[in-house]
Amino acid sequence: MDTNRTFALIKPDAVRNNYHGEIILRIIQAGFTLKAMRMVKLSKFDAERFYAVHKGKEFFDRLTTFISSGPVVALVLEKSNAVADYRALIGSTNPHDAAEGTIRNLFGETITQNAVHGADSDENAQKEWSFFFAQKDILD
Ligand code: RTP
Ligand code: MG
Repeated sequence: MDTNRTFALIKPDAVRNNYHGEIILRIIQAGFTLKAMRMVKLSKFDAERFYAVHKGKEFFDRLTTFISSGPVVALVLEKSNAVADYRALIGSTNPHDAAEGTIRNLFGETITQNAVHGADSDENAQKEWSFFFAQKDILD
């Protein structure tokens, strides 16, 4: 398992608002290297597969409808301590609680439309990037 890599998504609200360029810039300026990048619009079916861990929760339909509402940018990021450092960079799930200067504080709108996703463990990071990328699409 690779503690130096994580998986990130720039969500449809941020892409719709044309924040994705600035978000990628901030990720790079925070010391992450891009190892894979892909822009894609998920079907509702694929959004439900991607977020299967949240199936049964009150917000599941809202979340998967939103994630499939427009293009997302999928990223594999490399940095020491990538999973934890990226989650620190994006801030709390609810943009209203996210620390000043974090990506969700700057670009998020609501708990659903919160601009970005970050994997929460090395194991989930690998599962999540495998959903979007073949091994050959990820740089060494
Ligand atoms: P993410 O997976 O997107 O990085 O966010 P997270 O770990 O901070 O939050 P998580 O609990 O995994 O929730 C996944 C996404 O579901 C939406 N959500 N809505 N009460 C609600 O309406 C609610 N709670 C969570 C958010 O978009 C969150 O990012
Ligand atoms: Mg999560």
